[in-house]
Amino acid sequence: MKLTLSVIKADVGGYVGHSESHPDILAEAGHCLAKYTKSGMLIDYHITKCGDDVQLIMTHQLGVDCEKIHRLAWDTFVSCTEVAKKLKLYGAGQDLLSDAFSGNVKGLGPGVAEMEFEEREAEPIVIFMADKTSSGSWNMPLYKMFADPFNTIGLVIAPPMHNGFSFEVHDVKEHKKITFNTPEEIYDLLVFIGAPARYTIKSIYHKDTKEIAAVSSTQKLSLIAGRYVGKDDPVCVVRCQGKFPAVGEVLEPFAAPILVEGWMRGSHMGPLMPVSVKDSTPSRFDGPPRVIALGFQLANGKLVGPRDMFDDKAFNLARHQANEMADMMRRHGPFEPHRLPLDEMEYTTMPEVMKKLGKRFKKIE
Ligand code: 13P
Ligand code: 13P
Ligand code: MG
Ligand code: MG
Repeated sequence: MKLTLSVIKADVGGYVGHSESHPDILAEAGHCLAKYTKSGMLIDYHITKCGDDVQLIMTHQLGVDCEKIHRLAWDTFVSCTEVAKKLKLYGAGQDLLSDAFSGNVKGLGPGVAEMEFEEREAEPIVIFMADKTSSGSWNMPLYKMFADPFNTIGLVIAPPMHNGFSFEVHDVKEHKKITFNTPEEIYDLLVFIGAPARYTIKSIYHKDTKEIAAVSSTQKLSLIAGRYVGKDDPVCVVRCQGKFPAVGEVLEPFAAPILVEGWMRGSHMGPLMPVSVKDSTPSRFDGPPRVIALGFQLANGKLVGPRDMFDDKAFNLARHQANEMADMMRRHGPFEPHRLPLDEMEYTTMPEVMKKLGKRFKKIE
């Protein structure tokens, strides 16, 4: 059967500060989506949270970018915002950047990752969700899953994967896209995706069959809003097994934590720590940035699961290393490379300080 999987997320208010989602908000989202399931619009749904972000995971048959689905997500976030306002949660309605819905939530604040595909005999998927980081943070993990044989042995020894994958990369500043074929174009691909603040992997396809393998949210909140309202806190959906990397190959990149943009006030580099849903509660310096992974088997559109994939002792060392990296970065305080370079910080006092001190700057002879 042809199925659409839509993951749409938004921060509609934090509890306490930006550290967590209030249970009443998640319950409200559940009420809303139950209604749409009853009406037959959704086949199934699962609500979860990563830190202060509410995640709507939905299956249906209406295709990607469907106005009805985007509207129901928007209306759900609006209802959740009402609850957040009653509880006076922090930044109630933070990611809803418009008063009115206009056909698609893209460009209005929420993050979106959707894919349409023919459900296989067995369809394992993993959904990654992050808090306190930006949308390019999936670049390295996705590269490792789908193009790095040191991560994914299937690229070497599994015949259905041996010809490689195609990567669609978006230039989020210029609104342009380009597709690279791997393995033959990995050096060209890396020139771009090594700069994740500008070039983001949007989707990945099986090179021979053109089947969709992975999709991520590339929405950049600050570019949409024109100012800092919160970090993108992106999501990413990956199909696993058979022609695609095995579940363990898909999780493997997160065993070696990397530094990503985000953390306190969206303006710092910090380690991306793989955690269980329960532990997605950024606290220290509003972090460090977190990633959760929920695994599902799909059965005629029903979401069988979730399994909380990082709730596993095998990721203890990664968490320990991420904490050590966090310590190392915190040592730099307001200095780079912990603090982002001037032009990449989400907000700054520089213009005001410059205005105040401008006249005191003298020419160096
Ligand atoms: P306030 O300046 O409102 O405290 O917000 C800071 C913050 O939450 C960082 O995003
Ligand atoms: P969120 O994007 O998760 O709301 O975090 C905002 C922030 O600036 C934390 O310091
Ligand atoms: Mg927040
Ligand atoms: Mg968040």
